[in-house]
Amino acid sequence: MNTLVTDASKAGASVGLAGDRITINGGRPLTGRIEVRGAKNLVTKAMVAALLGDTPSLLRNVPDISDVRVVRGLLEVHGAKVLDGDEPGSFVLDPANVESAHMADIDAHAGSSRIPILFCGPLLHRLGEAFIPDLGGCRIGDRPIDFHLEVLRRFGAIVEKLPSGIRMSAPNGLEGTKVELPYPSVGATEQVLLTAVRARGITELKNAAIEPEIMDLVNILQKMGAIITVDTDRVIHIEGVERLTGYTHTALFDRNEAASWAAAALATSGDIFVGGAQQAEMLTFLNVFRKVGGAFDIDDDGIRFYHPGGDLKPVVIETDVHPGFMTDWQQPLVVALTKAQGVSIVHETVYEQRFGFVDALVEMGASIQIHKECLGGHACRFGQRNFNHSAVISGPSTLHGADIEVPDLRGGFSHLIAALSAEGTSTVSNVGIISRGYENFITKLKQLGADFVLEG
Ligand code: EPU
Repeated sequence: MNTLVTDASKAGASVGLAGDRITINGGRPLTGRIEVRGAKNLVTKAMVAALLGDTPSLLRNVPDISDVRVVRGLLEVHGAKVLDGDEPGSFVLDPANVESAHMADIDAHAGSSRIPILFCGPLLHRLGEAFIPDLGGCRIGDRPIDFHLEVLRRFGAIVEKLPSGIRMSAPNGLEGTKVELPYPSVGATEQVLLTAVRARGITELKNAAIEPEIMDLVNILQKMGAIITVDTDRVIHIEGVERLTGYTHTALFDRNEAASWAAAALATSGDIFVGGAQQAEMLTFLNVFRKVGGAFDIDDDGIRFYHPGGDLKPVVIETDVHPGFMTDWQQPLVVALTKAQGVSIVHETVYEQRFGFVDALVEMGASIQIHKECLGGHACRFGQRNFNHSAVISGPSTLHGADIEVPDLRGGFSHLIAALSAEGTSTVSNVGIISRGYENFITKLKQLGADFVLEG
């Protein structure tokens, strides 16, 4: 089968829309080298942080993914300028003319993104008001924003719920506060950081998330002039300052993308060098990858992930906040676990509904049962609450081709891996969603020798 896509720009352009379909002839090992760039879950926040400076920022290592395009659009509707920087994949972000935007424009640009909630702190400081439309994001549970709203109220914001969204105002400015999060939420921690750095006085945040992407955001804010202390036991202190300047920063690599390609190498019995991947941020993933029977070689410029031959082994894992096993790593890994010799258990403790993607794998021949009980060893907050959040995977199974539809970003990538590792031909529809977080994945699949046809 010949691929229809011949260059990166065309691939990026054509896989931008939900509804795109790819037909894959499975069973070929993926082999070769691909590069990962800046982390989606840091770059998008770093772009928002630029609103806090009174001079332009320069952000390098920006991936060409649709979530970045969404944030760019949102910055532009708020009057910020986003220009090409000094090298490909870099942005100059100039917040000099920031202004309020209409709810309808924000809504139109936000699409399914949850990023608008993180504009609130910076906009309240700059303009005294902010609007957020109804928020989208991947369909992986309710994904409420109650922590965010509570945090903003604590800083002194007035929150009004309107039929079209939420309006916030801070007529008297924002004041440092003490907050303890009910759960170490990534987004709510970022909310506190982006708001506290310019609030009056000191903020103490307990039970903070400490993911590497959050630490890189802290690096950025420090470059801008912020004073942030990360203590032991998930406590962060922020001393508010009156002004912040722009930053120059190279974004941390995308460890979720790197883990996805690693799982693809394992599931297809392949050998992929992921340029840009670093060991420290992937420590937990690497341990599990090795326990399953995968092999890796760590180099200064990336990590080689490969199937060394022999049987894959079953594992018991629980997803968790950092430094635990990331929830975004489980979906691609589950595909590899369908090929392991024995019974694996994956207990999802971060999101209550993140196993929707397994229906397609079962259709393709996998043996996976989903349970409401906490099966990983520890009781989590989803136990006894009717959430299907534990998976039992019995292997090895031979997957066969099927017509499947991408449900969300990470589940979607796992469907691609399943189709690539299956016997026969699969049609995967709705692959446009994958371009939210995987830069040029069609071009990368081609580089790795995948056999497919893209229909747009
Ligand atoms: N939660 C609440 N209320 C809130 C906020 C969160 O109950 O106000 C709950 C969530 O429902 C969830 C848990 O807290 O059960 C954790 O959510 P968190 O806030 O940590 O997640 P997030 O900030 O919305 C980010 C990433 C996710 C990643 C999670 C966990 C971005 C844009 N998204 O989401 O990434 O899975 O942290 O690490 O940074 C992805 O990349 O595919 C993705 C979903």
